[in-house]
Amino acid sequence: MKIHGVHHRTIWLSDNGWSVRIFDQRQLPWRIEIAELTSVEMAARAIREMWTRGAPLVGATAAYGLCLGLRADASDPALEAHYKALLATRPTAVNLRWALDRMKAAVKPHQGERRVAAAYQCAAAICNEDVDTNRAIGEHGVQLIEALARANPGRTLNILTHCNAGWLATVDYGTALAPIYLAHDRSIPVHVWVDETRPRNQGASLTAFELAQHGVPHTVIADNAGGLLMQQRKVDLCIVGTDRVARNGDVCNKIGTYLKALAARDNGVPFYIGLPLSTFDPSIARGADIPIEERSAEEVTVIYGKSNDGSVAAVRITDSPAANPAFDVTPARLVTGYITEKGVTGTCDVFVPEVRKSG
Ligand code: MRU
Repeated sequence: MKIHGVHHRTIWLSDNGWSVRIFDQRQLPWRIEIAELTSVEMAARAIREMWTRGAPLVGATAAYGLCLGLRADASDPALEAHYKALLATRPTAVNLRWALDRMKAAVKPHQGERRVAAAYQCAAAICNEDVDTNRAIGEHGVQLIEALARANPGRTLNILTHCNAGWLATVDYGTALAPIYLAHDRSIPVHVWVDETRPRNQGASLTAFELAQHGVPHTVIADNAGGLLMQQRKVDLCIVGTDRVARNGDVCNKIGTYLKALAARDNGVPFYIGLPLSTFDPSIARGADIPIEERSAEEVTVIYGKSNDGSVAAVRITDSPAANPAFDVTPARLVTGYITEKGVTGTCDVFVPEVRKSG
């Protein structure tokens, strides 16, 4: 994906060949700042404090975090400690555990420098595969948009998305946004309704930023506006990402997703989930069993924005107590389909055996 016309991934190795660079997403869209991760502790902090975020990118960052930890100490006890520290950073996105398990399996047979080399090799493979996977999600998902375009010739298609499931949430392309980028690149007229996504505003600050960088027409809306727009027939399709899908197809995603799915069902708007197979968790039977992250109340009571003098400022909007559940669960019955790297399916069951094999 491009920033000011230059292609970037969201995570990459420094020229020294070992430290890891990411965009500090807390600064977007006002400042483009790159953070250099030099230790497992720093990688864990970057995930916990959401310098970097989004299910697939959290997994990729943890993978490189383990590399940094093993570089400092590659012993078996250290491997376990690094694994545990990284796994404890955020509870909801299963991609974190998926990436760490894969890393552990790759490095376990080796010792010392061989172990470190195997770690970097596996982390690079996780990142490269994420790019290929997302590109494939885009190729499958764009067929839905192409079909809609054929049914509505000459009309701009309006697609609603929640949170950020674009390239900033992955290594490149994104999951939910990958089909939208491809549609735009293929000259299908698309316009995206971007839910602002309170409390951290991933929609307003991240999704809007990356759509703008790619030249995709979009409009930021308050989280509560989607229902009205659907009633007014101003939404053709919803596509969102996910942090974990249970065995029964229930979808855990950023808080507010469920309400959009309800409104979509009530108004006959198709509601799709873009996801890599690594986001299916066959060990969880139903959505209610997925751990929901409770984040700091301060994320609700304090908002960040640009003040008139151009500086980024924090403003407290209430002194009352606040609660901050960061994710919710959309029941499978409200999901029209799952767009994965293997294709689009109305039920996730068909992919579960495959997840078991690769997990
Ligand atoms: O708390 P965040 O910003 O990490 O939450 C991100 C989301 O909910 C995304 O929609 C989800 O991870 C899908 S990412 C491709």
